Amino acid sequence: MKRRQFLTLSGSTVAAVLLSRCASNNTTQARPSPTVISSKGGLLDVDLEALSMNTTLSGRQFHLLGYNDRIPGPLLQAQPGDTVRLRFTNRIGQPTNLHYHGLHVPPTGNADNVFLKIPSGETLTYEFTLPENHPAGLFWYHPHYHGYVADQVFGGLAGAFIVRGELDEIPEIKAATEHVLLLKDYDPDAGRIGSRATRGMMGAHMAQMRGREGAVVTVNGEIQPTFNLSAGGLLRLRLLNASSSRFYRLSLEEHPFYLIATDGGAIAEPVELRELLLSPGERAEVLVRGDREPGQYRLLNLPYDRGGMGMMGGMMGRGPGGSANVTETLATITYHGQTDVLPLPKTLIPVETLPEPTQTRRFLLNHGMNPGRGMVFLINGRAFDHQRIDTTVGLNTVEEWELINTGVMDHPFHLHTNHFQIASVNGTPPPYRAWKDTVLVPFGQSVRIRIPFRDFGGKTVYHCHILDHEDLGMMGMLAIQDEVAIVK
Ligand code: C2O
Ligand code: CU
Ligand code: CU
Repeated sequence: MKRRQFLTLSGSTVAAVLLSRCASNNTTQARPSPTVISSKGGLLDVDLEALSMNTTLSGRQFHLLGYNDRIPGPLLQAQPGDTVRLRFTNRIGQPTNLHYHGLHVPPTGNADNVFLKIPSGETLTYEFTLPENHPAGLFWYHPHYHGYVADQVFGGLAGAFIVRGELDEIPEIKAATEHVLLLKDYDPDAGRIGSRATRGMMGAHMAQMRGREGAVVTVNGEIQPTFNLSAGGLLRLRLLNASSSRFYRLSLEEHPFYLIATDGGAIAEPVELRELLLSPGERAEVLVRGDREPGQYRLLNLPYDRGGMGMMGGMMGRGPGGSANVTETLATITYHGQTDVLPLPKTLIPVETLPEPTQTRRFLLNHGMNPGRGMVFLINGRAFDHQRIDTTVGLNTVEEWELINTGVMDHPFHLHTNHFQIASVNGTPPPYRAWKDTVLVPFGQSVRIRIPFRDFGGKTVYHCHILDHEDLGMMGMLAIQDEVAIVK
């Protein structure tokens, strides 16, 4: 066990791979809090292995899936212009792959290509280069092999991916104490995915329809960790909802905090908030000021109703866990007292104004019954088919998409490859511009997003980031075509 300690220092994961191979039944003991693996000399060189492992949470044994010997996976760190070379080995007993959620890199070849299939026992090397002008921000990686995504992410697979750049050079932000908070819920047997026999069972299907939530909520794989905010200091919390279905309606016991970045990186200036809703896949970065009385303040997850309770005549269960009706304590922040309080940055990074769209489209989000499959989740009445292209756009164009939720549950809509800006929510423009890759479309509401398709052509996807919905069909294929003539 002791031998693992040097992993943290070296950043090398070769030892982890060797250790896990020696472990009996291919099951290793997980460690919380991520190892950091950073790029050196322009190269982020990573060995990553997906495998099943045991961990103890709240005094209970959990059988989960992890990357290397970590739950969550190691924190990857790179800079714009760096090349990422990641040797990925699958040891979970069913096909999987990797998706680099939010990175603006090619969706093709051995880059962020979610159509790749890596059978169990095989290794694939991912390689891509981050554009020189890639925004700094918090991104993440997780499995994306259609039909298995929810099982594997709910099983535990996820890790954070930071791109460091301009935002990190702003003096006030540089001076802040930084923590990544990967928010994720786990269920004791969620990693036992070898048999899919339970799939057809009524209870299991009900839980999937609503989107499964785990019995315990963690921050970086720990239950209610503490973060210290020294006198006068600034705390930079980089928040990631890596849960497959759970929502986080965050508050700091009514204290204000300051939003500085969203999914796609920095906003133009800090925005004061008392509450922040993160649906699955979304990220936000906030600054917390040390201007409180000394004491302990809790980071809370407040109740939030994401709908679906009345589905199928009220039969639809909440599944294990569930965050609709309870307040959960995620973490504690210890304030050490009030002295000269560090100032907040006045401005951050400008967010460009996008031109008028050349094309608008509508996407209706809903569910329906399918004779062979039971309940399916649909976009424009269709369930995902990997042989069908649903939407074709032109490279170097700007489009506006209207996302209309005509169903009874919330759906966080996620687009790969390109970031977008929210143009309006129910017709009202948002108070500030921000780059996003996932936007919540609550039931009965409509959201317009404006998307510049830049740099990369090829096939990619958009989908609901309640991953059970994605696996049950709520995904579409997008072709980004590098041609003048586009068939509409
Ligand atoms: Cu985070 Cu296509 O997903
Ligand atoms: Cu993604
Ligand atoms: Cu959904």
